[in-house]
Amino acid sequence: MTRHRQGAFRRSGSEPQPGPESGPASGGGTGSVGGTGGTGTAGSATAVASTDTGAAAPLLVVDNLHVGFPTDDGVVAAVRGVSFELEPGRVLAVVGESGSGKSVTSLAVMGLLPKTARLSGSVRYRGQELLGQSDAVLSRYRGEHLAMIFQDPMTSLNPVYRVGRQIAEAVLAHHDVPKAAARDRAAELLSLVGIPNPKERADNYPHEFSGGMRQRVVIAMAMANDPDVIIADEPTTALDVTVQAQILETLETAQAETGAAIVLITHDLGVVAGVADQVLVMYAGKPVEVGPVEDVYYRPRMPYTIGLLGSMPRLDSARRVKLTPIAGSPPSLINLPTGCPFTPRCPLAEDICEREEPPLAPTAAPDHLSACHFSDQLGLTEEDSRALFAGEHAGIGAGSGTAAGTGGGAAEEAATGGARVGAVRAGADAGPMTPTGTNHPPASEQAPVPGDGPR
Ligand SMILES: Nc1ncnc2c1ncn2[C@@H]1O[C@H](COP(=O)(O)OP(=O)(O)O)[C@@H](O)[C@H]1O
Ligand code: SF4
Ligand SMILES: [Mg+2]
Repeated sequence: MTRHRQGAFRRSGSEPQPGPESGPASGGGTGSVGGTGGTGTAGSATAVASTDTGAAAPLLVVDNLHVGFPTDDGVVAAVRGVSFELEPGRVLAVVGESGSGKSVTSLAVMGLLPKTARLSGSVRYRGQELLGQSDAVLSRYRGEHLAMIFQDPMTSLNPVYRVGRQIAEAVLAHHDVPKAAARDRAAELLSLVGIPNPKERADNYPHEFSGGMRQRVVIAMAMANDPDVIIADEPTTALDVTVQAQILETLETAQAETGAAIVLITHDLGVVAGVADQVLVMYAGKPVEVGPVEDVYYRPRMPYTIGLLGSMPRLDSARRVKLTPIAGSPPSLINLPTGCPFTPRCPLAEDICEREEPPLAPTAAPDHLSACHFSDQLGLTEEDSRALFAGEHAGIGAGSGTAAGTGGGAAEEAATGGARVGAVRAGADAGPMTPTGTNHPPASEQAPVPGDGPR
């Protein structure tokens, strides 16, 4: 995205002070907040100490966030230790299949979870703890400092009011300006997000706009108060491909105008390329790979990410390649079994994977983290990565013949013995091999995942 970091309408730094409700408190209703004192997700280099204050503090810090939902069948462990830091003007993509905890994470940051949710960990905006604050305090942050864009624009728009009025109300909620000035600002914002004839269109109702245009209106609303953080939760998922690209461009405009940092949530890794600075891949409520976008794309260190990459078209690949979806489904988040939750779907799973859940830990590149027992042995070429989930039997062996093909650093590592999974063998007589050479049945022949995870 554009690297413009100083918004055209930037305020002169008025940060909200914590209200009387300041400090860890109930997460609302039955919720509880237990600060973890910066212990963070096990092994997470993104975890931070919880003592940061004021101006020197990072913009947004999520530290060891856990969210559970009690249900009749047990507690849904929707988020199980998410940590990240967001720097001003940066774009963090949060990627994962449906049900991996992306939306619950963002709703926790915004303080929009139902009162039944059980929360722990920490969410700090410019050093101020948000978790456990009352709705009155949080509503001062929402809109003015943290804005959210949902997949369905009608989540944010009221069908019975004209769009100009709704944007003007968003301005008036945080600024003491004359109504006429708020209306002018609404038209200006509509123009910025690419709505033609903005003054006239401001008088239309949401149903008079197409889906893509409605999402532009919502982006205009998110920009209304020049927020520092915009969380966009699958903003393009409901739109067709050409409109998706336009909405991403509009988000780029929003960032350029406001200087906001963006958390871009998507199930589609393809959306992330060229947009994000950092990627956080989630599986079963946890980050399983975190790193700079190029590193995660070209040197993935977690089989789940490798599977996601193999299931999406690559415009950066010279060859035509077959797309291979990851077989199976994510696990139920109620009573998760011990071990790595990806085990039943992972072509590289070993016995240890069933016994121990690997921590998110730095790989050879310290800012690239992975939660896999064998992350240091993964340095796959694109070709090998695709073969892994295609059942084309990635064999073991450093410096194998296919290693020199693509993948930059990965290929280099393979050639020098860094990668354990190398040769792609023709034929399909046995299951894919594990890092230590054990054959596993192909995913299609493995036992079904207990309790297909709720979506
Ligand atoms: N209010 C709720 N009560 C119970 N379970 C919930 C609730 N909200 C979300 N979940 C569950 O939490 C998990 C994560 O959901 P979500 O964050 O929406 O996933 P996604 O990654 O698709 O955005 C899912 O299993 C979902 O069913
Ligand atoms: S190899 Fe083991 S730890 Fe790594 S992703 Fe597969 S199942 Fe999980
Ligand atoms: Mg979601």
